[in-house]
Parts: sequence; C-alpha cells; structure tokens
Amino acid sequence: MCTCIEKQQKLGLILSEYQNKSGGLIPVLQKAQGLYGYLSEDIMFKVADGLGVKPSVVYGVATFYTQFRFSPVGEHIIRACHGTACHVSGAENITRIMADKLGVEPGKTTADMKFTLDRVACLGCCSLAPVVMVDSDVYGRLDEARVEEILGNY
Ligand code: FES
Repeated sequence: MCTCIEKQQKLGLILSEYQNKSGGLIPVLQKAQGLYGYLSEDIMFKVADGLGVKPSVVYGVATFYTQFRFSPVGEHIIRACHGTACHVSGAENITRIMADKLGVEPGKTTADMKFTLDRVACLGCCSLAPVVMVDSDVYGRLDEARVEEILGNY
C-alpha cells in the first residue's frame, strides 16, 4: 500500500506529465482518484495548482461526471448491476439483501471502511443476470444464498 508521501510524489509525477497538455484535466482526475480512491478538496486544489487552472474549473468538471467520488471508499467496491437484464432478474432484491447484510445503503461505505456498495448500469455480462462485481471479480446468476457466500470471500 502507498504511503501518503508516495501518493503525493505520484500525484506530482502525474501533474508534471499533463502540465502543458490540453485536455489533461479528466485523465489527471481519473489518475488522482485511482491513487487516492476519491477526490478530496485538497486533491482538487493540488490538481488545479499543478495544471494551472482555477479550482472552480476542476470542481466543475469533477462534479459533472458521475465517475468521480468525493468521499473515501471502502477496501472493496461492490458494483450491483441495475441494467435492464439484471433489473428484471431481481437486481433490486439482491442489492437490498447486500445492503441489509452490510448495514449500509447503496452509494455508501460501511463504518469499518471494508465495503462500498454501488448501484451501476450494465456491467456487460447480461446473460449472467443478476450480476454483481466485487472489485474485479464478477458474480452472476445470484440468489440470496450466494450473496452471503460472496461477502464471506472478502
Ligand atoms: S444488465 Fe446487468 S450485466 Fe447487463
């Protein structure tokens, strides 16, 4: 795991890589989020400073796109698919079961910072509906019993 200083150094390298490139703001924000897990106010100020743009521009772009987060995420990110195929196959029920077992509402992170539960659009494997991804692991054809088993894997 990266220390705080290592992360700052990496962010510095990312900023210098994109410093004089047009269209660099979104890739920098993506990389910064990849590094820290989310975009804090402090990180957005550093990005603004590093790229020589106004903080309001950075904030405006970051808040326009749903891919960016503004609060810390859990160690594992659960993406519960709510695309059409998953919706008709019981995604709502699966997400509710997960939320109840974790004690957290969709879009939130557990108090122990272990899991973040998100509702997402189609994950691209509709034939396995209902589908959930935990980090990069895909779980399909879910039912209540498997939800418990899956959470136990982490
Ligand atoms: S709708 Fe869920 S994977 Fe496509």
